[in-house]
Amino acid sequence: MGPTFITLEGPDGSGKSTQAALLAERLRQIGLPVVLTREPGGTSVGQKLREILLNPDIKLSVMTEVLLMAADRAQHVQEVIKPALENNMVVVCDRYIDSSLAYQGFGLLGEISQVKAINETAIDGIWPDLTILLDVEPEAGLRRHRQAESEAGRSQCSGRTNGLDRIEQRDLQFHQRVRDGYHVLTRMYAQRFVVIDTTRLQIETVAQKVWEAVAQRIKAAHG
Ligand SMILES: Nc1ncnc2c1ncn2[C@@H]1O[C@H](COP(=O)(O)OP(=O)(O)OP(=O)(O)O)[C@@H](O)[C@H]1O
Ligand SMILES: [Mg+2]
Repeated sequence: MGPTFITLEGPDGSGKSTQAALLAERLRQIGLPVVLTREPGGTSVGQKLREILLNPDIKLSVMTEVLLMAADRAQHVQEVIKPALENNMVVVCDRYIDSSLAYQGFGLLGEISQVKAINETAIDGIWPDLTILLDVEPEAGLRRHRQAESEAGRSQCSGRTNGLDRIEQRDLQFHQRVRDGYHVLTRMYAQRFVVIDTTRLQIETVAQKVWEAVAQRIKAAHG
């Protein structure tokens, strides 16, 4: 099989990290070489950028946030994603360019032209073959997080208020703009997007739908 680049997108708590791990495992089970990675923080430089980006105690201007996310992505593309695709691996990436378009574009700036231009430079032509939008009502997504974090005692960690990171802490209107923005992106890039509404679905049911979408693409691309 040739290289395939799959991204998981969606609002906070929609299940991206959970599903990315399950998908990578399932792809490995059928014998495919898989790289599972995430943004921000998919490289060692990116890990440092992630700490800055998500720390609630650090105040960033909107454009600084846009550029640091893009810097993380540029490093990630060159160091991890591009080499893996050149080696015919399947790359499963937890968040990618659509996160910047949805969060910094639609969520913070209200439009995406600048964020799109900057990120097109960052990705160096590496667009996903398939993007799975795990949709969730923002209240439900944030509730999942609060629940998980209170169980894990993460709210005791430094730099977090109520266990939420700098971006999670933004108000519900912000998260609603992000969610609506993702839906605009599914229309802009209709050929690579598949949408799964996870609001009332169990993790295993979502995993099955993710698998169906991936299997269909693999079949379409490779017969
Ligand atoms: N379909 C689901 N139903 C109920 N709970 C879920 C579902 N999917 C994931 N969860 C739980 O919700 C929490 C958040 O899931 P996860 O971390 O995968 O989301 P995420 O999209 O990666 O979030 P973030 O955007 O913050 O990285 C976890 O505790 C996870 O177990
Ligand atoms: Mg996650």
